[in-house]
Amino acid sequence: MKILLVGSGGREHALGWKLKQNPETVLHSAPGSPALKRLGEIHPVGVDNLEGLRDLARTLDPDLVIIGPELPLVMGLADILREEKFNVFGPSRDAARLEGSKVFAKDFMVRHGLPTANYAVFYDESEAKSYLDKTSYPAVLKADGLAGGKGVIVCGGRAAAMNALDTLRATGAGKRIIVEEFLAGEEISFLAVTDGKTVLPLPSSQDHKTISDGDKGPNTGGMGAYSPAPLANDFLKNHVMETIMKPAIEGMAAEGNPFVGVLYAGLMVTLAGPRLLEFNARFGDPETQAILPLIESDLAETLLAAASKTLPDRELAISPKSCVCVVMSSEGYPGPHRLDDPITGLDAANALPDTVVFEAGVAERDGIPVTAGGRVLGVTATGATLKDAVDRAYEAAKLVDFKGAHYRRDIAAKAFKVNPLSG
Ligand code: AMP
Ligand code: GLY
Repeated sequence: MKILLVGSGGREHALGWKLKQNPETVLHSAPGSPALKRLGEIHPVGVDNLEGLRDLARTLDPDLVIIGPELPLVMGLADILREEKFNVFGPSRDAARLEGSKVFAKDFMVRHGLPTANYAVFYDESEAKSYLDKTSYPAVLKADGLAGGKGVIVCGGRAAAMNALDTLRATGAGKRIIVEEFLAGEEISFLAVTDGKTVLPLPSSQDHKTISDGDKGPNTGGMGAYSPAPLANDFLKNHVMETIMKPAIEGMAAEGNPFVGVLYAGLMVTLAGPRLLEFNARFGDPETQAILPLIESDLAETLLAAASKTLPDRELAISPKSCVCVVMSSEGYPGPHRLDDPITGLDAANALPDTVVFEAGVAERDGIPVTAGGRVLGVTATGATLKDAVDRAYEAAKLVDFKGAHYRRDIAAKAFKVNPLSG
């Protein structure tokens, strides 16, 4: 099967790695990365160059196109490729509004009775300010559009909320602002593959959004993930499928926007049950790095079946093991950070059993891997138990080094705490 994979990050390396486990896969990536070049051919076309990607698809004539990041989805890449009769794994522009517009997503949740925090939408800043004068705190402010993970601010009080309004305006994504009730609980990521009708859950996972241990410090794109999350026991998984994932996919179809791809529900598990924080319209990063090593079904076949709307109503085969991905980031990230530092130890780490280092921000200079992003690597290991996977991932992370390398030491630690929310 000839596959064109759009993207270049750690998530796309993980997708390429998994797809290549089928020896029949011929992999092309755009723009790709050095890691993806080792798995196939790469083409220097950016993810926002829709015409360039259409022309590339015309030249390659792939059996399947997989779109990794949100930007091309929200811009309508899937629509353009479907017009050309390609099998595309990824939602249309209208369906990707579940991620691209938080106002659309919240209104959709209410229309379809999906559990979520109470909220109010403001088009006008002075109205938002007078609401913030009288609302209760903590409150959560969200910009409507894509903001690269910078569009949500939890505010402890009125002064913080006023500052947050300014910050959100500066992202350029904040023409419309949502003020939302604060939900207490524990977050999980719940992803499902769908052809617009049939919905197949992927293993649950938990991201670690802040830069420092103990969930301290500023938010990042994600500093590590593990799968499955013990909090998502069979009861919760079933409940989420029946009350959130399936009704969401039915709702999109009923509104004339069938959703094909990965629907990612960011959930807060509260004492009153799971509540939707957000939808994403794609594979999570770094959740994907921790989920894919556990999938035993053929990924290429599954995604092609979803893209061609023939997904069999049969659960995916999932390994009973656990998987942990520890993200290594550049000094300074998520602020301005170091770049271009040589990376050592990748071969040694990759040689450990059940271990793979996914490359998120790596370039090659004179044949040597160097850092080329804020999030550089996702050191990933599987184990018979979560504890084994944690130990292996950290053993591997110790072998890898670059100047100013940072990683959290507590990825998956939450899973070992007694949790009042489970059961
Ligand atoms: P989102 O992009 O909507 O998932 O928000 C980013 C992060 O902000 C989430 O992962 C949560 O940690 C936090 N967050 C968002 N909405 C809420 C909420 N209503 N209550 C508490 N925390 C929230
Ligand atoms: N890990 C969070 C995201 O992919 O949006």
